Amino acid sequence: MIDYEPFLSRAAQSWRGSAIRKMGALAARIPDVISFAAGYPDPDVFPWAALEEIARELLEGRDGAVLQYGPTRGLRSLLGALREILASRGIRAAEENLLVTTGSQQGLDLVSRVLLDPGDVVVVELPAYTGAIAAFRNAQATPVGVRQNDDGIDLDDLERVVAEQRAVGHRVRFIYVVPNFQNPTGRLMRLEGRRELLRWATERSVLIVEDDPYGELYFEGSAMAAETLPIKAHDEDGRVIYLSSFSKTLAPGLRVAWIAAPEPLVEKLEQAKQAADLMTGSLDQRIAFEALKRGVWAERLPALRAHYQHKRVVMEGALRAELGGVVSWPEPRGGFFLWVALPEKLSADRLLARALDQRVIYVVGSAFFVDESGSNMMRLSFSLPSVARIEAGVARLARVVREALAG
Ligand SMILES: Cc1ncc(COP(=O)(O)O)c(C=O)c1O
Repeated sequence: MIDYEPFLSRAAQSWRGSAIRKMGALAARIPDVISFAAGYPDPDVFPWAALEEIARELLEGRDGAVLQYGPTRGLRSLLGALREILASRGIRAAEENLLVTTGSQQGLDLVSRVLLDPGDVVVVELPAYTGAIAAFRNAQATPVGVRQNDDGIDLDDLERVVAEQRAVGHRVRFIYVVPNFQNPTGRLMRLEGRRELLRWATERSVLIVEDDPYGELYFEGSAMAAETLPIKAHDEDGRVIYLSSFSKTLAPGLRVAWIAAPEPLVEKLEQAKQAADLMTGSLDQRIAFEALKRGVWAERLPALRAHYQHKRVVMEGALRAELGGVVSWPEPRGGFFLWVALPEKLSADRLLARALDQRVIYVVGSAFFVDESGSNMMRLSFSLPSVARIEAGVARLARVVREALAG
């Protein structure tokens, strides 16, 4: 067997598998495991009938374009529909500002290719979405963490971190944020915090990469649409690169997402995308467009919000009943996640083996921290498991925590 290590690029040599994917692989091998690990949407709320009808009509038509290569930027019809969605979020974008991507994950990869050189610094939140951290590291950049506070980013910490990095000659290219129902904390950044961050970025000549897959999934009575207004809505000089996706609100299997950015950057992103995959799937984009045109997407959003809110309530209720006073979490006002703090003396990393024995899994909090902290934190996704499995899974988890506390 050839030893491939010497053949690998420096970047590839440094790659480590994603903690979440490893969890998934482990879970797949254990019968009846209850997974709170994957942040997947619930297939029960995929618009099956509507998508079936749309796909059938598209394929029955025998229009070559439906299965043909298309423009790298994305189908024009879809770009038009995306402009309307962005307008509803307070963002003015021309077609020239848009690029359809194969999931937002590709968007993060393309942004990294276009903006980062090896050794550059990207500022990320403590904690931050692991997929973004991976994309930045793939580009051989160094993600450096800043603390969060109730408003969003701790600006004093941000100022300190950036000054420190610049003092040692590092270029700080951008700050990556998920203001709406962040993965993993579920936190909604306050509007004032968003404006302050934009002001800070303008003063310090740093770009902002704003990732917004969860903004539509606010919980009625808990958060309002107006509170999810993206930073991009206030962007007057093209400082914000905005990413969003249909993965959580339509179906992630379509892999349809998009970037809204200043035109010179979109041109570069398009060149990077050409080398990566030429274009996002034609059929996927057409299905997504038809779902938008027929109102399938917009009409289902209220039901999706209610569905996930109900699951959140069930998970919180189960945690309170089983582990009240032992664990704590900030109540998420939207999205897919509970960000749970264990008692300080427990480590979510060490608990995982016992959790696997009890056939329940989660993502260890430390996976989201670029400074290796957060060992007593865990991310529990309530989006995918059924209500009954959420309750059963929390009961299993509670057994693990209680046993660990007992000795
Ligand atoms: C914050 C965040 N960004 C991006 C993504 C990637 O989404 P997709 O590539 O499915 O659009 C996810 C998926 O979980 C996410 O949580």
